[in-house]
This record gives sequence, C-alpha cells and structure tokens, in this order.
Amino acid sequence: MCGIVGYCGPRVVSQVLIEGLRRLEYRGYDSAGISIADSQQFTTVKKTGKIKELSAAVPEDIQGLSGIGHTRWATHGEVNDTNAHPHLDGSGKVVIVHNGIIENYEALKSKLKSQGKVFVSETDSEVISHLIAQYYEGDLEHAVIKVLPLLKGTYGLAVMHTSEPGKIVGARNGSPLVLGIGDHEMFIASDVTAILQYTKEAVYLNDGELVAMTKDGYKTFDINNNEISKQIEQINWEIEQIEKDGFPHFMEKEIYEQVASIKRAFTGRLSLDTASGHLGGLDMLPQELHSIERVKIIAAGTSYYASLIAAYLIERIARIPATAELSSEVRYKNPIVERNSLYFAVSQSGETADTLYAMRELQRKGAKVLGVCNVVGSTIARESNGGVYLHSGPEIAVASTKAFTSQLTIFYIFTLILARMRHMAFEDGLEFIKGLQSVPSHIEQILSKTDELQSLARKYYKHTNVLFLGRGLNYPVALEGALKLKEISYIHAEGYSAAEIKHGPIALINEETPSLFIVPDDALRDKVISNMKEVKARKGPLIAFAVEGDTEVAEIADDVFFVPRPMN
Ligand code: BG6
Repeated sequence: MCGIVGYCGPRVVSQVLIEGLRRLEYRGYDSAGISIADSQQFTTVKKTGKIKELSAAVPEDIQGLSGIGHTRWATHGEVNDTNAHPHLDGSGKVVIVHNGIIENYEALKSKLKSQGKVFVSETDSEVISHLIAQYYEGDLEHAVIKVLPLLKGTYGLAVMHTSEPGKIVGARNGSPLVLGIGDHEMFIASDVTAILQYTKEAVYLNDGELVAMTKDGYKTFDINNNEISKQIEQINWEIEQIEKDGFPHFMEKEIYEQVASIKRAFTGRLSLDTASGHLGGLDMLPQELHSIERVKIIAAGTSYYASLIAAYLIERIARIPATAELSSEVRYKNPIVERNSLYFAVSQSGETADTLYAMRELQRKGAKVLGVCNVVGSTIARESNGGVYLHSGPEIAVASTKAFTSQLTIFYIFTLILARMRHMAFEDGLEFIKGLQSVPSHIEQILSKTDELQSLARKYYKHTNVLFLGRGLNYPVALEGALKLKEISYIHAEGYSAAEIKHGPIALINEETPSLFIVPDDALRDKVISNMKEVKARKGPLIAFAVEGDTEVAEIADDVFFVPRPMN
C-alpha cells in the first residue's frame, strides 16, 4: 500500500518527510521519494529500496518551504527510480504524489502525448501532473478542481506548484487523507502515524473533499469550490504506541499487547448489576435491539474470520440468525437488504475499500450499518450509522493480530446484550461476563509459554504445506491460523472444518503434511478426535492445541500445546 506525507512549515522539510515516510514503512513499499519546494523550484529525490537509501541521497543543505513524500508499491510500471513518486509535469512546475489507481490513464496519456507532452514514467499517476500543469492559470486549487472530474478511479493526492511555494493542495476520492494542524505548520498524510509525533489535531477528509494548506492555515472545500467547515479531531494515540518498544517486530509486540487490548475492549462495557453489556456507540434503544430479526456482518481478511465467529456466537447464544460475508463479494452482488436486519461492517483500519464500498451500497439500499473499527476517525467509523471502537491502539503490523481478539470481545458483548434481552437468565449473564473477564489472564498464560511454540515452529518450519483444522467456532480460528502462516511465513496452509477433511483434503495428508488441530473440551471434542485419527491413519504429523489436562489428545498427537481451561 502506498503512503503520502506532506509538510508546510519552518522545520527542515526533508527531515519531516523522511521521518513521516519511515513511519509509513510498515505498510510495505518498493520505492520512495520526496519533492521539496523552495521559492523557485522543486528538488526531487527518488530511490528504489529502503527509506534509509532515500535519506542518504537527499542533499543535507536542502532548504524548503513545503514538501511532499511518497512510498510506492508498484502497480503500473516496474519498480525503478523513475516510476517512484513524486511525479513532475514536463515543465517541472507541478509535482504530485498519488495513492490509488487512475483507471482511464491510458486514454488521458495518449491525448496528452498527441498534444506534445512527454512522459518519463510508466505510471498511471504521471497524467495528473501534466493535466494540472495544463489547467493552471495562477491558482492551484482551481487547476486541481478542473482536473479531478477528468480522472476515473481512486486517489489520495497532494500537489505543489512552483508559482505558489509553501502551498500544498490535497484531494481525496477512495484513498484516505488526513491533515495535521500544528503551530504555524501544517501536515498532510495518508495515515496519522506519519504525523503523530508532531501534532494530535487532525482533520479527516471525506471523498470528494479537497484541502489547500500553507504553514499558516488551511481551507477545506469541495469540487465546486464551496468551502466546507470540518471538525478538528484529537488523535488519541501516543507516539510510544507506534514504536517497537524493544520487540524485534511490530507483529510480535502487538501479539503481546492482547492482554491489555482485550481489557480495553471490555472495560466500561460490562455490568455486573444488569448482568449484561453496554455498547453506547451503537446508539440503539433496547426496543430497537429487541426487534432485530437477523444480523449480517461484512468484512475482509482477518476481520472476516472474526465476523464468522461473531455470526456463530450470535446465532448460538442469542438465537438470532446471523451470517458473515466477504465485503468484496457483497460489494458486487446487488445485495438484498431485508427488513429488521442489522448490519455490521468490521474493519481494523476502517479504510478497507471493499468493506467501505459494500457498506455504502448496503446503506443506499436502506440498511443500517454499524461499524466495528479500531482507527478512530477512519472512513468506515465516520460513515457508518453508529458503531463501536476496539481501542486496541495502533496496529502497525499489516497482518492483523490484536484487533482480531478485540473484535471478538466486542461481539461477545453484543451477543450478551441480545441474549440477555431474550432468553438468557441473570445468573448466566454473570457467568458469561466472568468468562470474558478471565480471557486476558488466559492469554497471559499462553504468552508465557512462547518458548514451547518456538520449539514447535523449529520442528515444523521446513514443511511446505500445513492444514489448520477446527470445528464450530474454531473452524474460523483455523482459517485465521492458516492465513497467518501463509502471509507471515510464506508456507502454504489451508484452514478447514475438521469434519471436511474426509471430503477431499485427506488426499493431501502424508508424512510431509502436518495438521494442526484445535481441540477444545466442548461438545464436538470427540468428533475432532475422530478426525485426528483419520489423519494419524495416513501418517500425517499431528499437532494439537488442546485444553490443559486432556491426556487423550496428548496421546494421539505428536505434539500438543495446552491452553488454559476456559470458565464455563
Ligand atoms: C489485509 C491484512 O490487507 O486487510 C489483513 O493483511 C486484514 O490482516 C485485512 O485483516 C482487512 O483489514 P481491515 O483493516 O479491514 O480489518
């Protein structure tokens, strides 16, 4: 995912940009660049590779009034210095950085070429700088306003012009942009982490909105040049939260943060007096909650797996029909919005395009969609019809970890609320709450046994295929486990319902393919044990995650990792 950072102000512009880009590294990139405006021209440096290489190539004595920077993840055109952003027009007067994809760039490019414009890169983005230069008549805002309707696709955009040094114009359509307000300095970024060390005052742009900023202030406006007054939001993250804090990787840090993040997700949201929960952000009266006839959840990736578990919980415990669907599928299937259905859009970042666009389509069809997001002020959080924040703190590792368990925590609370309104007795509500409150200490116990997990990893890391198997609500947990192994270790893994292996995947099982079974001590335990025996009969290595004291499972499996026995 590409990243944008921009700055107007008295600091050393290159340093602010490089530091901002460094903060955006976690999103992945293959090249990066910056452009700095002094009173006459731009100094542009672009480099394939890491930010430190870009930083080394930036002249030390560079002076500037404003600047824009970018981390690129190649989509159009190979990875090289020329295709890296920023992109200038032929005259060198306009410079842009762009996130998103311009779908009609080929048509725009051939028209511009027929007018004599010379392109240097293979990117879709370069057409934007040429077009802005063509429409520029002394006012950068006007030029950008004229060009945006010509672009089909998505953009988060930051633009500078040599005739207006110290000014940046930004525009958003489908790719996030946030402004940071400082004391006689202004920032723009695709993600607050890039500017958090300088300011906590932010303005989030919506699609169709633009900003013009200088060190002394900013103006937000729409495509018709009508000024829009926007609320200033406080960023509630601390700079320490986006540091590695002694951990080698953000992902490891975030796995360890779960003890605290789960607590934060339920703190103030559970009541022993009512034996129920309270999610104020839902903004729904008890009567409204009572009239829900079905729950539908949309999400992508890890959030989708959390949603599958949520649907399972809501049906099983609150006895309300519930389903989870991939937002990428809902988006294009002309969904039916049934009366008395409550929808959730679940997204850690609150920016995942498929989930956002699916949510908007559901809303157009009359659905009430509640957001379950982590990032405060994110687009899904703002555009949903109410919702709940996870309060997990920043999840810098792109592969989601702590957000998953916080999403589950929120849905456990939501399930409790619905169940208590229907058939769940007061005492059972209290038991449910105690169970939920015990989860952080169980996670702490599991994390204290990391060395056991490390030796399992050392034993199995050379295998090229792994099956993750579970049943009931552990079937989506198996899917999530397989996703993590694929994404992080580049080892092929598949998640299945343990019951399904006999319907095909069993053909894959041999001495080279380990199977990891999740075996809780629940109603399906004996069935899962039978599935384990099917694997054992084919000499497949067996790893089991079982409940402490389950000696039967330990005897069947080649390796067992025990988790604490949950409260019932
Ligand atoms: C993917 C990440 O790109 O986005 C996953 O690799 C994540 O880990 C998914 O779950 C969805 O993101 P979000 O922010 O909508 O929960």
